[in-house]
Order: sequence, then C-alpha cells, then structure tokens
Amino acid sequence: KTPFPIFSQEEVYKHRTPADGIWVTYKGGVYDITEFVAMHPGGSKILLAAGGALEPFWAMYAVHSQEHVLEILSEYKVGEL
Ligand code: HEM
Repeated sequence: KTPFPIFSQEEVYKHRTPADGIWVTYKGGVYDITEFVAMHPGGSKILLAAGGALEPFWAMYAVHSQEHVLEILSEYKVGEL
C-alpha cells in the first residue's frame, strides 16, 4: 500500500556525495536531502549523516525535536527501507 519504493540500507549508503545525491534515513523513511544541504541552519554538520541514519545525530542535537523540522524532512521523502 506504500506509495514509495523500498530501498536497502546498502543502496542508501551509495548516496553520500552531491554527485550521487545525499540520502539519509529516519524511522524507516528514506530521504534525498541533496537540495536541502545548502539550506541547513546547522551548516555542513548535516553531511555527517550522509548515507545513513539521522537518529544518532538528532539524539545529540535536540533542536531537531520540533514539528517544523519533521515537516521539512517529509518534503524530501523518496522511499522506505
Ligand atoms: C539546526 C534541519 C540534520 C546539526 C537545524 C534546524 C533545522 C534543521 C530546521 C533549525 C532548527 C531551529 O532552530 O528551529 C535538519 C534536517 C536534517 C538535519 C532536515 C536532515 C535532513 C542534521 C545533522 C546534524 C545537524 C545530521 C548534525 C550532525 C544541526 C545543528 C543545528 C541544526 C548543530 C543548530 C544550528 C544553530 O542553531 O546554530 N537543523 N537538520 N542537523 N542542525 Fe540540523
């Protein structure tokens, strides 16, 4: 019933550069944040999560525990794990 394609963790990990696209995962969702990286209020730290999970980083930076941050993220959803 999901409208999104399913990607493996391995496939997500291939997307870690502007050329390949920058993908991250969050709670089972896959997000292509390539276009958002330059707009991130926290600067290039966002690249630490490239190709992997946001959870460990967002646990350290509680500024992300806000509705408006999740709204931004949702705009970039491209698939599910
Ligand atoms: C701040 C979004 C990933 C570090 C913010 C803010 C947004 C945002 C909207 C401003 C929040 C506010 O002030 O209300 C995102 C999104 C991410 C992401 C959508 C992933 C797609 C990360 C990662 C890190 C990080 C992976 C760290 C490794 C920070 C820091 C700030 C911040 C340090 C505070 C900047 C400041 O106020 O000086 N992020 N973020 N972010 N982010 Fe992220």
